[in-house]
Amino acid sequence: AMGREDVVREELGSLHGIPLYKCFIEGWPQVEAFQARPDDLLIATYPKSGTTWLSEILDMIYHDGDVEKCRRDAIFNRVPFLEMKAPEMLSGVELLEKTPSPRLVKTHLPVRLLPTSFRDKDCKVIYMARNPKDVVVSYYYFYQMAKVHPNPGTLGEFLETFMAGKVAYGSWYEHVQGWWEKKQEKQLLYLFYEDMKKDPQQEVQKILQFLGKEVAEGTVARILHHTSFQEMRKNPAANYETMPTTLMDHSLSPFLRKGISGDWKNHFTVAQNECFDQHYQEHMAGSDLHFQMEA
Ligand code: PPS
Repeated sequence: AMGREDVVREELGSLHGIPLYKCFIEGWPQVEAFQARPDDLLIATYPKSGTTWLSEILDMIYHDGDVEKCRRDAIFNRVPFLEMKAPEMLSGVELLEKTPSPRLVKTHLPVRLLPTSFRDKDCKVIYMARNPKDVVVSYYYFYQMAKVHPNPGTLGEFLETFMAGKVAYGSWYEHVQGWWEKKQEKQLLYLFYEDMKKDPQQEVQKILQFLGKEVAEGTVARILHHTSFQEMRKNPAANYETMPTTLMDHSLSPFLRKGISGDWKNHFTVAQNECFDQHYQEHMAGSDLHFQMEA
């Protein structure tokens, strides 16, 4: 059997054309056959786009802003990661089967690979997107600390890998656009990390409206406080510190690293930025999907 050492710094495999961790690919048959429930809420994102932030907000909404209830377990157990499979751990599907309804489900799958059951059961979906320059910087640090990833090389090398769609979960462009095409469906709410940074109260109100949920006065304020970067960063139930260190090494880079928009400016050279802009324009041409590259 594969031990945790074996998943460290392994090359990615390929799942229906997207690069992915080999251990996740091994578990794919169970993911494809996953039985969604009508009251499941799916949190879908490209990696490093605010998944954990949105997950904590939703768990708080589901528990009427009760901070203690939201400390009951680590975020990766409260909001199981659908396609996750790693040695010596319950898989995402196994964890979900043990989770009482109504369940929150995390996925990074591109829309074309979503198990059909979510559509058959007409489940609600909240998608969160983040500008690709901040995504690639965040992903670069995550590749270093989460050892399921191959070695990212230099930032310059990683930018090439990202633009070529050869990072885990493949092309950012295909991901954000594929889900964007579904946004006219009333069961999908499409949010942006940059909007959440600018006006979290407005975005939480959008979520409440989408869920058809009303909360008591003061609850929204409590949710916003508890899910702020500063609070989440020191909360062991939200900051991934309880993950085995063989899988994540926070001394290399903390999971909640900076939590801002525009950090790419501290990392990209002028030449890298020009190259990225040109690639971005080519790949987003004709799309009505637009990103704010800074706050
Ligand atoms: S993952 O591994 O794909 O699920 O990661 P994900 O949670 O999507 O993204 C991690 C980045 O989100 C930032 N983050 C936050 N930003 C602002 N406010 C809050 N509360 C918050 N929580 C998480 C986290 O810091 C990562 O971004 P970077 O830019 O690396 O700091």
